[in-house]
Amino acid sequence: MYLSKLEVSHFRNYKKEKLSLCDNINIFIGDNAQGKTNILESIYILALTKSHRLGFENNIIQNGFSCCKIKGLLRNQEELKELEIQVAEDKKSVFINQKEIKKIASYISNMNVIMFCPTDLDIIKGSPQIRRNLLNIQISQLYPLYVNYLNEYNKILKNRNEYLKQMNLNGFTDMRYLDIINEKLVDRGTKIYLMRKKYLDFINAKIGIIYENIMNIKNLNIIYENSLDLENYQEDEIKKRFYQKLKSNIKREISQGMTLYGPHRDDFSFYIDHENMKYFASQGQQRIAIISFKLAEVEIFTQEKGSSPILLLDDIFSELDIKKRNKLINYIPNSIQTIITTTDLKNIQKKIVNTAKIFLVEQGKIKEKVK
Ligand SMILES: Nc1ncnc2c1ncn2[C@@H]1O[C@H](COP(=O)(O)OP(=O)(O)OP(=O)(O)O)[C@@H](O)[C@H]1O
Ligand SMILES: [Mg+2]
Repeated sequence: MYLSKLEVSHFRNYKKEKLSLCDNINIFIGDNAQGKTNILESIYILALTKSHRLGFENNIIQNGFSCCKIKGLLRNQEELKELEIQVAEDKKSVFINQKEIKKIASYISNMNVIMFCPTDLDIIKGSPQIRRNLLNIQISQLYPLYVNYLNEYNKILKNRNEYLKQMNLNGFTDMRYLDIINEKLVDRGTKIYLMRKKYLDFINAKIGIIYENIMNIKNLNIIYENSLDLENYQEDEIKKRFYQKLKSNIKREISQGMTLYGPHRDDFSFYIDHENMKYFASQGQQRIAIISFKLAEVEIFTQEKGSSPILLLDDIFSELDIKKRNKLINYIPNSIQTIITTTDLKNIQKKIVNTAKIFLVEQGKIKEKVK
């Protein structure tokens, strides 16, 4: 799929800007703090209704204004769709072809984006929450049903935790109610486990080859760390084990007042052979492992959705040596729309620059560079 037009109003440091993007490589070049990342962020929000900059959501509206708007024209095969998001201080609304869509789950599977940004190093180094978040965002884009399972699971989980706390404080011993909650938690939780497992299996089928091609190092793979052994079990068997796990640990859960097992505790790690990259890999190796993860995602999206996602690469070249940069950029398929930011065109191979559409970004204004 291709985003052919983008329009932002009162978004961060942009007052009103309108752009036409090309189907291949688009490069946004500018000094620091001019608005390059903001443009990628606006595309990300248009697709996912949320910012990739966790915790900075509240600042997306231009200072001094009360609402912002992002609009885009998306082409997927022969179909054209106009997507729009309006964000006011306390309200977010999304539209497809000017018709308001009430269910976010059915909006976010329309435009698929995969983004790499400098803080993504945290995917290896940071807390499990960051990795779970990444899985949730990506799988939600692929399968709208996942969003429903996840929302339901989170509600049940909250409810269960409250009940466990009550059991601890008030000494309830009525297990029947807990059993009912357990059954629901196990059902939705197992669905989530299976979808995450399938997704990470997909990644594993591709990531090693991509990493080896760029780095010349073999055997990168992802290990899914969960509270159950999912390796060889079918849905019913996983449910049974999950349920059993909850049953046999109920005393611990009551005394801690929280649910200790389930997909809300999931994690995954990057390994090369038997070594966790978190502890031994260099910054550059980690960066390329994460980029390989994202490029594997591109392949999965293309395969599962029948059309390629849009790739957003924020400042991808800092800290990579020139050989890796060139290998990496040549690895990106031609057929995929890619939007890159950089402070210096020297970072990008000449032959790529020559074919790309180039935008100059200066203080919240964008000019197309005439060749
Ligand atoms: N809500 C807002 N209203 C007005 N300006 C904002 C708002 N939020 C951010 N900005 C401005 O946007 C600019 C940052 O833009 P952005 O992060 O896109 O920079 P960049 O070009 O990617 O820079 P770098 O190369 O350093 O990454 C800053 O000058 C910041 O003050
Ligand atoms: Mg930036």
